[in-house]
Amino acid sequence: MTLWRIGYSARLLKTNRFRTAASNTSFPAVWMLLAQYSGRVPGLFVVVKKNNFFTMPETVEDKANLELYLPHPEVRGMTRLNREAFKRTVVVPVLKVKKEIVNTLLKSLKHTVLQRPGLKRVVEDPEDEDSRLVILDPHKIPEFSLGESDQEVLKQLNVHPEVSKYNLELTYENFKSEEILRAVLPEGQEVTSGFSRVGHIAHLNLRDHQLPYRHLIGQVIIDKNPGITCVVNKTNIIDSTYRNFQMEVLAGESNLVTKVKENNITYELDFSKVYWNPRLSTEHGRIVELLKPSDVLFDVFAGIGPFAIPAAKKKCRVFANDLNPESYSWLLHNCKLNKVDNKIKAFNMDGRDFLLGPVREELSRELPLLKEEQKTSFHIVMNLPALAIEFLDVFRHLLAGEPCSAAGLPTVHCYGFSKHDDPARDVRERAEASLGTSLDGRCSTYLVRNVAPNKEMLCISFQIPAEVLYKRPCPDGAIPASKRLCSSRDFSEEKLELKKS
Ligand SMILES: C[S@@+](CC[C@H](N)C(=O)[O-])C[C@H]1O[C@@H](n2cnc3c(N)ncnc32)[C@H](O)[C@@H]1O
Repeated sequence: MTLWRIGYSARLLKTNRFRTAASNTSFPAVWMLLAQYSGRVPGLFVVVKKNNFFTMPETVEDKANLELYLPHPEVRGMTRLNREAFKRTVVVPVLKVKKEIVNTLLKSLKHTVLQRPGLKRVVEDPEDEDSRLVILDPHKIPEFSLGESDQEVLKQLNVHPEVSKYNLELTYENFKSEEILRAVLPEGQEVTSGFSRVGHIAHLNLRDHQLPYRHLIGQVIIDKNPGITCVVNKTNIIDSTYRNFQMEVLAGESNLVTKVKENNITYELDFSKVYWNPRLSTEHGRIVELLKPSDVLFDVFAGIGPFAIPAAKKKCRVFANDLNPESYSWLLHNCKLNKVDNKIKAFNMDGRDFLLGPVREELSRELPLLKEEQKTSFHIVMNLPALAIEFLDVFRHLLAGEPCSAAGLPTVHCYGFSKHDDPARDVRERAEASLGTSLDGRCSTYLVRNVAPNKEMLCISFQIPAEVLYKRPCPDGAIPASKRLCSSRDFSEEKLELKKS
């Protein structure tokens, strides 16, 4: 058992120094505990050392495992943020140095110097105006003694390696959001300080036990994250047709119209009315990367345009559709904002009608004109992972009766969720069922992201088999060698089926 006695601050200025290797006690935890009983006055104070032990009320000893930087215990259960209640004093080690060498010392001891948000690392020395006190991190110098390498640095700088104790007042500003929330929320329950950021908005997905603290959590996030001025919480799971959330503003301004930048393109949107997910930026970039300038993109569930607009910027011709009138009008707005309104034809209709109408029309017109040497490819993006696979049946015989053109069989990139053990197989089998044909050997699946434990988002890409699109395989002559993608096995299976019927 380690016992301590705290000396009186009247003795402080005379006897506050002692040698670095003065004690072999476990310091960081005890320093903090000392602070709880020290009257919370910033400044140096003395610990009287007697025969290598100190005395301290026994109750303190029970808490010896507490972490050093814990806000004041009184804040537990607080639901309205009272920043003043976070004030507390901890005892930290300091090094007295001549003010001329402070900067050099800070550089040389940068791993040992205390780093806390909004905290000065160097303070005036109340005893000597030519000196400064450099605050050290108690975790880095346990046992009150500087490590050998730090001592070596001090030797080179001609600084006496003497560590003193300093009463440091920590305020709300000096705690990190996680430390604050961990101190406030019920002990032992999960604390969240994570959020998605959409422009000036932080978007949370709080659990039930966190809800009583939601306004406080929102305010802490605003305080600790420059640029965030509004915090919202999802109030139900994303189940509306338009894939946007019901949300509650927890703290800050109620303005949900914001500006985001993704892959160097700026978008404006009303976060309460349209879908936007900052976690899809890599996926948007991956698909756009596949496109060449002369390609045509049909974006069936376009949202506010994160596939369509970069594709148009790349000089593709784009047909973009969304059923949500709000998404449609923000799509138009962003086309103008990014000066691609002459490259994008926007539609506000159901995805099925879009495929059966404008997409079918464009393909019927363009495909027969395609020559082998033409480089144009047609891509159809379908990012509505909860439902898109069910839309694939639209491609069955979409161009039946049209002249078969295997040169430009469109490539579909269709998204789906899966909770299956083998998500790629699951998505492929569901796509096959919808299309009514096998995609074995003629599709690729890409794991986009893990959405929740056991729930993946995938993208399956394939060229629509000619027998699906035209209700028959294209004759061999219609398939330029370079564009021949369907294996002969697939065609012979189709022929067999035709013969049977
Ligand atoms: C998951 S979001 C994807 C938006 C955008 N492509 C992106 O990557 O951020 C799906 C979009 O589909 C739209 N949507 C939902 N059902 C639709 C339907 N039946 N037809 C067309 N669009 C639909 C929603 O309004 C939403 O904007």
